[in-house]
Amino acid sequence: MKAIKISENVTWVGATDWKLRNFHGYTTHRGSTYNAYLVLDKKVTLIDTVKAPFSDELLERISSVIDPSKIDYIISNHAEPDHSGAIPAVLKVAKNANVIASPNGERALNEIFGSFPVTAVKSGETLCTGKYTFTFTHTPMVHWPDNMVTYMTPGEILFSNDAFGQHYAASDIMDFENDPATILYEAKKYYANIVMPYSPQAKKALDAVKALPLKMIAGSHGIVWQKHIPDILSLYERMVTGAEDNTALIVYDTMWGSTDRMARAISDALKDKGVKYYLLDLKNNDISDIMEQVLTAKYLFVGSSTLNNNILPTVAAFLCYLKGLSHKPKKFMAFGSYGWGGQGAGIINAEMLSMKMLPLCEPVKIKNVPDEAALKALTEAVKGLIE
Ligand code: FEO
Repeated sequence: MKAIKISENVTWVGATDWKLRNFHGYTTHRGSTYNAYLVLDKKVTLIDTVKAPFSDELLERISSVIDPSKIDYIISNHAEPDHSGAIPAVLKVAKNANVIASPNGERALNEIFGSFPVTAVKSGETLCTGKYTFTFTHTPMVHWPDNMVTYMTPGEILFSNDAFGQHYAASDIMDFENDPATILYEAKKYYANIVMPYSPQAKKALDAVKALPLKMIAGSHGIVWQKHIPDILSLYERMVTGAEDNTALIVYDTMWGSTDRMARAISDALKDKGVKYYLLDLKNNDISDIMEQVLTAKYLFVGSSTLNNNILPTVAAFLCYLKGLSHKPKKFMAFGSYGWGGQGAGIINAEMLSMKMLPLCEPVKIKNVPDEAALKALTEAVKGLIE
């Protein structure tokens, strides 16, 4: 396994995780990469490492460029183990390498490994390795408290770690070697599932990045941005500000089809009002895929049949995941059918209210099988609620 040159004196030496399909609950249909970069200069610098099981792959790629014992600095932009996991393996070979991190990174690395010294750097502090100067900028909560990004001049490369990343495995590492629609979709999904709760912090980081002359953004997951830097920056601009499309998601599960019929009656209203909608039955749709759409949707309709005085487990899981991602409030409606009791729609409504979502109306419930008149009334009611 060889390194891939991305710029003069800079090579990608990371690992490609073709098999990854779940990243702590996030379904990664296209696998992922753990990107690490080697910068050759008077002093040799490694920027980030890889997940521990890929340590040999990292060392093999480094060895295709230079003897790994010659590494002088390991810049750890982020202590999460998908990027720091191989630091101990590298230090076994590069015995005198100095590990550099933010102060929160120093603490986190000590708590995770406790086996090597770390030099903490302030935001704005620089490191000169000969020809190159690295400037560190703290970007806390994008997506852990310790995150920082590293900007290299000359070269104008931003090593952005999680920011601008995508869970996307590919044989070719540059953006222009991959389908732009796919990588931008994966970048949006990544933001929705990883960064969304920290949008205010991401906005600050984005503002800092936009001020820099940039030739490349070399993140820690997925491809390296070069040709499509304007596209990824404009996508982030929309995401950090919570920009919405005129779209609605009808997210639901149904026991015997009655809640499904309600969902379709709601979709008729949306169609009549010119709102683009997506019917997302939770039996057939993955929660982390739905989050990519939640990010920019204007309306959320969430439904469940009542089951044992509660809601269906798929809907409970969706609400739990949504709550953790705590994004910008959306207009919502809770709905569902029931046989007796009928608590389902109310439970959804309470959960959505606890997330500071904005109700379009009281929860809507229909007993047993809705007839045509009930469905028509639901369609008309929803039409009256949509702007
Ligand atoms: Fe890719 Fe927050 O780690």
